Amino acid sequence: ARPQPLEGKRVLVTAGPTREPIDPVRYIANRSSGKQGFAIAAAAQAAGAEVTLISGPVDLDDPAGVTVAHVESAREMLAAVEAALPADIAIFTAAVADWRVAHEGAQKLKKTAAGMPPLQLVENPDILATISKLRDTRPPLVIGFAAETEHLIDNARAKFARKGCDWMVANDVSPGTGVMGGDRNTVHLLTRDGVGDEIKAESFPVMTKEDVAAMLIERIVSTVTDQPT
Ligand code: C5P
Repeated sequence: ARPQPLEGKRVLVTAGPTREPIDPVRYIANRSSGKQGFAIAAAAQAAGAEVTLISGPVDLDDPAGVTVAHVESAREMLAAVEAALPADIAIFTAAVADWRVAHEGAQKLKKTAAGMPPLQLVENPDILATISKLRDTRPPLVIGFAAETEHLIDNARAKFARKGCDWMVANDVSPGTGVMGGDRNTVHLLTRDGVGDEIKAESFPVMTKEDVAAMLIERIVSTVTDQPT
């Protein structure tokens, strides 16, 4: 059999939205389908990696040969990611809710004469930033995604600098693109050039999410495997 390029490598992928409970019957969520993360997990598995996929609630079948942990909230996702370490490569495609409700209702919130219930929000943990800042167990290659609806490259650059990851994939999710929930994606790969630590951006044409996954895995393979001499 042909040697698999990611044989022996442990790859961790987060995917999908998170669901932040308001009360036992309601939650805050977003339009992420999980398709891009699932495609990346499948492509890594096909390249021979041992893959753990940590997914929020999605309407997709678990990819064959991949260990899948299903979670709901951002805090559960962070715990599952930490439990899946160590890893050689971590790819964070999940659309994690930035906020959760400060005080989850123990019972279904009721309409009252007093008016609407106030929903106080608190910030969720940033999983990508948390993992990027680990000392001993930081995966050697940490990749983030930046979904933006405007000023794509500028916002992604700022996010890249802030999060501490090694690569950042910027994708345009503005309403006209159909990326959220759709089958295609237009991405830009942000990396740092080894010399001045300057951020380089490489743009790709619109591709299927499978092709984006294949491109990314190809880049990963050429980065982490020893080049044949
Ligand atoms: O939501 P944001 O645009 O900051 O997401 C950028 C990157 O950070 C994505 O890779 C996303 O998966 C990750 N992220 C995370 N935990 C959060 C927010 C974002 O891992 N709480």
